[in-house]
Amino acid sequence: MPLVGFGLWKVTKSSCADTVYDAIKAGYRLFDGAGDYGNEKEAGEGVRRAIQDGLVKREDLFITSKLWNTFHAHDHVKSLSKKQLDLWGIDYFDLFLVHFPIALKFVDPAHRYPPEWFGDDGKVHLQNTPMQETWGAMEELVDEGRAKNIGLSNCNGSLILDVLRYARIQPSVLQVELHPYLTQQPLVNLTKTLGIAITAYSSFGPQGYFELDMDKNAPSLLSHDTINAIATKHKKTTAQVVLRWATQRGIAVIPKSNHVERLAQNLSCSSFDLEEEELKTISALNINLRLNDPADIDPRLAIFA
Ligand SMILES: NC(=O)c1ccc[n+]([C@@H]2O[C@H](COP(=O)([O-])OP(=O)(O)OC[C@H]3O[C@@H](n4cnc5c(N)ncnc54)[C@H](OP(=O)(O)O)[C@@H]3O)[C@@H](O)[C@H]2O)c1
Repeated sequence: MPLVGFGLWKVTKSSCADTVYDAIKAGYRLFDGAGDYGNEKEAGEGVRRAIQDGLVKREDLFITSKLWNTFHAHDHVKSLSKKQLDLWGIDYFDLFLVHFPIALKFVDPAHRYPPEWFGDDGKVHLQNTPMQETWGAMEELVDEGRAKNIGLSNCNGSLILDVLRYARIQPSVLQVELHPYLTQQPLVNLTKTLGIAITAYSSFGPQGYFELDMDKNAPSLLSHDTINAIATKHKKTTAQVVLRWATQRGIAVIPKSNHVERLAQNLSCSSFDLEEEELKTISALNINLRLNDPADIDPRLAIFA
C-alpha cells in the first residue's frame, strides 16, 4: 500500500472525475473512497479515463472503499460491495474497510444512497448486527476476489483484539483519525505489534473541519508556530511537515485537496526527513482532540468512550 494517497471525502461530484484524473497524472496511486462520500461513480470515471489515456493500468492503482453502517448484515455486505464496485466500474477493491463499528438499520439504496446517519424521521436507528457477522461477510469478499484486503476503521484496541479472536482473515489496515492534536500512540503501538498497517485520516487536524463548522475551535495546525518553525527550517510547507511527521513513522496518509498545486505538494511530502527531536516536538502538541466522533451525533454512538 502506498504511504501517501488521496482522500475523496468532500470532493464534489462535479469535480471528482477531473480531480482523480489530475491526481493520477500528478503521481497518486492510492485513492481512499467510501460509499458514504457519494462520489464513487465520478471517481471511477476519473480512473477509467486515466487508464484509457494510458497513464496507468488498473493494477498500478490501489483503490480503497468502505462499507457504510446501514449495510453490516451479511447479505448487505455482499450486495453493497457489488454495487460499489459497479459504481467505480472495477472488478475488485484493493482494500475494503468497515467504515465504523456501528450497525444502523438497513436503508434500501433504491430509497436513498448514500443513506448517511439518519432515518427518514431524522433519528438514528441502531441495528443489532454483531461485528462477527459483518467480518465473516468481509472475509467472503476476499474469497470471491472482490477485495484483495479487508480492514477496519474507527476501531479502538479492545474491538480490534476481539475481531482477531474469530478472524479467519486478519484485518490488513486500520484507518483512524490521527494528527498532532490526536497522536493515538497506544493504538499505533498496538497495530504495529499486531502487524496491522495504520492509515491516518484528517492528517491536518481541524483544517478539513473548518468548512463544516466541526473544528471544535481548535487552532489551525497549518499555521501553528511550532510547525511553522520546523517548516521554515526545512524549506517545506507546514502541510508537508505534518504529513512527514506521520509517514516517517510508517503511518500512511490520505490528504484531500481540491487544488492541483496542493495535490503535488502533499504527494512529495516524503522528500525530506525530520529530526528525531522535531518528531517529538510535534507529537507533544497532542491534546487528544477528536474531531470525528459519532457521539457528537447521538450518545449511543460513543464508540471511543
Ligand atoms: N475513515 C473515516 O471515518 C474517515 C473520516 C474522515 C476522513 N477520512 C479520509 O481521510 C481523507 C482526508 O481527511 P480530511 O478530508 O478530513 O482532511 P485533510 O486531508 O486532513 O484536510 C483537508 C483540508 O486541508 C486542505 N489542504 C489540503 N492540502 C493542503 C495544503 N497542502 N495546504 C493547505 N491546505 C491544504 C484542504 O483544502 P482544499 O481542498 O481547498 O485544498 C481541506 O480543507 C478524507 O478525504 C477521507 O478519504 C476517513
